[in-house]
Amino acid sequence: MLQKIDEIYTDFQKALSQLKDQSEILNLKSQYLGKKGQLSEVLKSLKDVTDEQRREIGPHANKVKQEMNELVQQALRNLEVEKINEKLAAEREDTTYLDSVKSEWTPTGGVHPRTLIQREIEDIFLSMGFEVLDGPHVEDEFHNFEALNIPGDHPARDMQDTFWFDTKEGEKKHLLRTHTSTIQVRGMLERKPPFRFIAPGTVFRCERTDASHEMCFTQLEGMMVGRDISVSHLIYFMKTALQEIFKKKIEVRLRPGFFPFVEPGFELDIRCLICQGKGCSVCKQTGWVELLPCGMVHPNVLKAGGIDPETHNGFAFGLGLDRLVMMRYGIDDIRHLQSGDLRFNSQFKTY
Ligand code: FA5
Repeated sequence: MLQKIDEIYTDFQKALSQLKDQSEILNLKSQYLGKKGQLSEVLKSLKDVTDEQRREIGPHANKVKQEMNELVQQALRNLEVEKINEKLAAEREDTTYLDSVKSEWTPTGGVHPRTLIQREIEDIFLSMGFEVLDGPHVEDEFHNFEALNIPGDHPARDMQDTFWFDTKEGEKKHLLRTHTSTIQVRGMLERKPPFRFIAPGTVFRCERTDASHEMCFTQLEGMMVGRDISVSHLIYFMKTALQEIFKKKIEVRLRPGFFPFVEPGFELDIRCLICQGKGCSVCKQTGWVELLPCGMVHPNVLKAGGIDPETHNGFAFGLGLDRLVMMRYGIDDIRHLQSGDLRFNSQFKTY
C-alpha cells in the first residue's frame, strides 16, 4: 500500500507539472484528493490491513496528502504570478522619453495677471505722453490726507480706515497708504507744470473682504496739470485708455462723486463684464462696477503741491486696477488674485 501511495504521488506530480490552467489544476486535485479521488480510494482499504501496518501507512498517507495540497496551492500561485507578469509585459510603457522632456522643461514662473494689465496700461499712457511714477507704501498723514484736502477731523478719513504705526510724541504720524493719490502730491512737489503722469501701486485699507473688496489691493493714479485743462480732456483720456485696454467698445457711465481732492468729482462706472449687466456678486446686483473715480484737481490740492491754481489746473483719476483685471479676464472674485493658487495663476500664460 505504501508503494501504491508513492506511485499515486509521483503520477500526481507529473500530471501537475504539465498543467497551465486553473480549472485543470482544480480538476486534478479532485481526481486525486476528492472523496472519490485516487488517494481516497486507496485509503479506504486501510480498514483491511493490520493495526501495525495502519500505524505506518496512516501517517505516511496524511503526509503525502498534505504535500499534494501544498503543491496544488503553489501551482495556483505560480499561475497567478505568470498572469500578472504577462499583463505587465503587454502593458509596458517606455517612459525613458520623459527624461529628455524633463531636461528641456525648466519651471520659470509666470507674470501675475495684474502685472500683465499694469504693463499694458503703462504702455498706453506712455504713448500718450505720461510719465510712470512710484511712491512709498508707508506714508505720512500729510501726503495721504492733509495735502489732499482731508484735514484731521474730516469725515472722509473714515472712508479710508487704515493701519497706523506707533508714533512717539511730536513725531509725524505714519500709516500704510490708503490710495495712490499720495503720489499726486509727491509728483506735484517734484515738477513744474505742465506735466502728466500715472502711478500704479499697492494700497491698504482696514476693509471687510468680499467678491470685489480686498484689504490690500492695487490702484493706478493719474494726473495731468497744465493751463486750461477741462473735463473734456479728462473724458477723452479715460475713454481712450479703457478702449485700448478692453480692445472693444465698452459701456461706461459718468456720475457725480465726492472726493475732497477734486471739484467737480465723478465716478466712472463700467457695465459689469462678468454678468453683462444682469447683476452678480461682483457688481452687487447693480450691473455696474465702480472702477474709475476722477475729477478736476481741487485748488487746495494744487496749492499744497506748490502750484498756483490761478494760472494752472488739471484732472486726476484713481483706477481700481484689480477690478479692471477682473473685468478684462472675467474673474468673478477679487480674492483669487491674492490666493497664490497655481491653478488660477497658471491660466495666464504670458511670461
Ligand atoms: C480713491 O481711492 C481715490 N483716491 C480715487 C481718486 C483719485 C478720486 C483721483 C479722484 C481723483 P476710492 O476709494 O473710490 O477712491 O477707490 C478707487 C477705486 O479703487 C475704486 O473705484 C475701486 O475700483 C477700487 N477699490 C476701492 N476699494 C477697494 C477694495 N477694498 N478692494 C478693491 N478695490 C477697491
